[in-house]
Amino acid sequence: MGVVALVPAAGRGERLGYGLPKALVPVGGVPLLVRAVRGLVDSGRVQHVVIAAPPSDVDIVSTVTAPLAPAGGAVLVVPGGAERSDSVRIALAHALGELPGTTVVLVHDAARAFTPPEVVKAVVDAVEAGCPAVIPVLPVVDTVKEVDAAGVVVATPDRAALRVVQTPQGFDARVLSRAHASGLHATDDAGLVERLGVPVATVPGHPDAMKITTPFDLAVAEALLVGGRG
Ligand code: CTP
Ligand code: MG
Repeated sequence: MGVVALVPAAGRGERLGYGLPKALVPVGGVPLLVRAVRGLVDSGRVQHVVIAAPPSDVDIVSTVTAPLAPAGGAVLVVPGGAERSDSVRIALAHALGELPGTTVVLVHDAARAFTPPEVVKAVVDAVEAGCPAVIPVLPVVDTVKEVDAAGVVVATPDRAALRVVQTPQGFDARVLSRAHASGLHATDDAGLVERLGVPVATVPGHPDAMKITTPFDLAVAEALLVGGRG
C-alpha cells in the first residue's frame, strides 16, 4: 500500500518564542522538522513525505529534508497555510495529485520531533488492518475539570475514560479527503473525521511523542537527548 506522511510544519512557533519557525529550531543541533521526518522514515512504513513549510522557508526546508527521502520515495515541500488545518489540506491535495496510489495518509506534527518509529508503525499497521482512522493516545494522569466562562467548575469527567492525543494520526486516504473537504478547522484531523461519523481507533502513544510548544518543552526535549533518546 502507498503510505504518505503529511508533516504540517508551517507554524510560527510563537509560544516557543525562539525567533525562528518552530520546525527549524534545533535540538542538539538538529532541526525539529528533521528529527520528525527521520522518525517517520525510520519506521520503514512510509513511502513518501509531504511537508507544509513556512511559505518564506520552502527552499531551506527542501534543502535540509531532501537527504531524508525514504528509499525509492520522495520528500516534497509545499508552502503551508494560515492555520494548521489549511497546511494539512494543502499537503493532502499535493499528495493526492502528485502521488497516485496513495492509500494511507499519516498526519504528523513537526513539533512532535521525538516520536519513536514504533508509534508510527503501530498507526500504519492499524490502518492497514482495516481501521479507517487511528490515533496514538496516552492515559490522562491529572484530574481534569470542565469550567464555565468564569472559570467555575461545572464538571469532573471520569479520568479513566479520557485520553491525551498525539500524532502521527493515520487515515484511509479517502476518509481524510472527505473530512477535509468540509473546510472546517480542528486542532486534530481525527476531530474532523469524527464529524463524519467514522469510528476513530486508538493505539498506545509514547511520552517521547510530546508536542514541543513552550520553552519548558524544549528543555525537556534537550533532556531526552542527554538521556540517550533521539
Ligand atoms: N502548523 C502548520 N501551519 C500553520 C500552523 C501550524 O503547519 N499555519 C503546524 C506547526 O508547524 C506544528 C503543528 O502544526 O508542527 C502544531 O502546531 P503548533 O504546535 O501550534 O505550532 P506553531 O503554530 O508553530 O506554534 P504557535 O501556535 O505557538 O505559534
Ligand atoms: Mg499554532
